[in-house]
Amino acid sequence: MVCLNRDTQISSQSSFFYLQLKDIFKILGVLLVPLTLGVATTLLSIQQTKLNQKNRENDIDIAQKQRQQDVFLAVQAEKERILATYLQDLATLLLDKNIIFDKNSAVSSIVRAKTLTTLIQMDAPRKRQVILFLYETKLIKRNSKYALINLFDADLDNLDMSLSESKIKHYKTYEKIDIQLRGASLVNSSFKWRHLDFSDFSQADLKGTNFQYADLSNVDFSDAHLSNTDFRMANVSKAMFAYANLSNSSITDEQLSTALTLQGTILPNHATAPVENLIMNGDAEQRCSNNHAVFPPNWTLTNGSISAVWRPQSKMELNSKCSFSPLSHHDISAMHQTVDLNDYVDWLFNGRTLYGFQITLSGTRNGKHYVIINLRHRSSDGKILENITICPHSVKNEICGTTSLVYQEPFFSLYNDLFLNDKMDTARIDIEIIFKRRFDSNSTLSEGNITTTYCDNIALNIYLMP
Ligand SMILES: *[C@@H]1O[C@H](CO)[C@@H](O)[C@H](O)[C@H]1NC(C)=O
Ligand SMILES: *[C@@H]1O[C@H](CO)[C@@H](O)[C@H](O)[C@H]1NC(C)=O
Ligand SMILES: *[C@@H]1O[C@H](CO)[C@@H](O)[C@H](O)[C@H]1NC(C)=O
Ligand SMILES: *[C@@H]1O[C@H](CO)[C@@H](O)[C@H](O)[C@H]1NC(C)=O
Ligand SMILES: *[C@@H]1O[C@H](CO)[C@@H](O)[C@H](O)[C@H]1NC(C)=O
Ligand SMILES: *[C@@H]1O[C@H](CO)[C@@H](O)[C@H](O)[C@H]1NC(C)=O
Ligand SMILES: *[C@@H]1O[C@H](CO)[C@@H](O)[C@H](O)[C@H]1NC(C)=O
Ligand SMILES: *[C@@H]1O[C@H](CO)[C@@H](O)[C@H](O)[C@H]1NC(C)=O
Ligand SMILES: *[C@@H]1O[C@H](CO)[C@@H](O)[C@H](O)[C@H]1NC(C)=O
Repeated sequence: MVCLNRDTQISSQSSFFYLQLKDIFKILGVLLVPLTLGVATTLLSIQQTKLNQKNRENDIDIAQKQRQQDVFLAVQAEKERILATYLQDLATLLLDKNIIFDKNSAVSSIVRAKTLTTLIQMDAPRKRQVILFLYETKLIKRNSKYALINLFDADLDNLDMSLSESKIKHYKTYEKIDIQLRGASLVNSSFKWRHLDFSDFSQADLKGTNFQYADLSNVDFSDAHLSNTDFRMANVSKAMFAYANLSNSSITDEQLSTALTLQGTILPNHATAPVENLIMNGDAEQRCSNNHAVFPPNWTLTNGSISAVWRPQSKMELNSKCSFSPLSHHDISAMHQTVDLNDYVDWLFNGRTLYGFQITLSGTRNGKHYVIINLRHRSSDGKILENITICPHSVKNEICGTTSLVYQEPFFSLYNDLFLNDKMDTARIDIEIIFKRRFDSNSTLSEGNITTTYCDNIALNIYLMP
């Protein structure tokens, strides 16, 4: 700022300027104070408004959070009340000595309805409580053949039955559960580290379920939805996967090779598994050689001599160039093989097992050379429960009895329900293949040659009903 001296001569113009400037400063001075005050006041009031707004927002937020908390607590309390009522009602039923509890009783239906309604309103931890209660009161225990309560369609999504690794180390047997959850919805549930041997998950929806480290030996997964399921480090030894959908699940081929059945299973790579043939070396192609006869391994020769024989002139089946034929000059040649059904006893007993037997055959029309098959159902102590004799049409009346089944060459197939035939105790089936030929006095075949009597493609499949 320029310092102005009164005694200094100044021009009228500068004097005017001086006055003007002085006045302006004065005016400004007068004006500036209230203006500043006004601005300050305005600023303060804006800030205050903002603060108030923020406080109000905070209050609203707190109130909202409080309300949410209240609602949450109310919902929790309501869930707790529903669960407590459910457990109390079931306890009353179970302790009532006058109530007969079996799977077909009205009580069973009432408990099922009550359970399904309750489960819909439960969260994951309470679902676990319900399941543990039903299991420990033996209502959904598997090994009693039929569970008393059926949880088909129950909402058990996100159920968490997992155990911690440390727990499993200390309570191996206590934590073992054989549970009946047939047909339940168990999407995204977890059974990590659980011992579930012999549990029933057939027809259950198990999409995205965690079975890591679980013991799943002998578990029934037939017709279950298992896509995106985690099977890492799980034991699936003798588990049933018939018609299950394993698409994109983490199960390995090595694990699947230990399973009991894979019929119709959709594998992780989206291929469909065929039904396994329980007869070993039932297809002569596996053992055929162009220049020497080979007796098939896993069969037992009881009479004569039989070999897998090259049959190049076959018109019947262009793709099958080999078959089993008797080679020696014996009237009778016979071989047999036993199929072990021990792993299927539970399913036989529950009426969920069918077996199919197939064979390709040829003989001569006049009944001089033919094949006879005997299927013997045996119990575990070796007792014969049923004999099924299968004879060609040409010899039916002469040799085979009236109860024999008759085949029309070149194929024969039989489907048999072991439960309906009352053969629930069947532990194994003996398959005996008998070749019969008539020779002339000088030991030459009276008709045809060695390749006219043959069989091939022998298969026995077990079909497990979901
Ligand atoms: C299961 O998990 C998947 C993937 O995390 C999710 O998309 C799906 O909604 C879940 N389903 C249920 C029923 O929780
Ligand atoms: C899987 O379970 C079966 C049957 O319980 C058992 O014999 C087998 O040793 C187990 N396998 C592994 C790798 O633990
Ligand atoms: C198997 O599951 C996958 C994944 O959920 C699905 O896309 C597919 O259609 C299923 N296959 C069958 C035959 O149901
Ligand atoms: C298949 O599984 C993997 C990992 O388990 C997952 O990341 C992926 O999304 C799944 N694919 C489908 C189509 O569900
Ligand atoms: C079937 O035969 C093969 C070859 O001789 C043998 O290694 C295998 O152990 C046999 N299997 C049974 C179950 O007898
Ligand atoms: C073997 O065949 C002869 C006749 O060729 C018969 O006498 C004998 O009983 C048969 N043995 C068996 C074990 O079938
Ligand atoms: C089945 O046939 C065998 C001889 O092959 C005989 O010893 C047995 O008594 C028969 N069993 C029945 C139940 O018919
Ligand atoms: C026995 O074999 C000779 C040739 O080796 C044949 O000529 C004769 O007809 C045969 N006998 C009978 C009964 O078929
Ligand atoms: C065996 O008999 C069939 C029909 O009788 C004949 O077509 C075939 O050539 C004969 N095979 C041999 C090796 O003699």
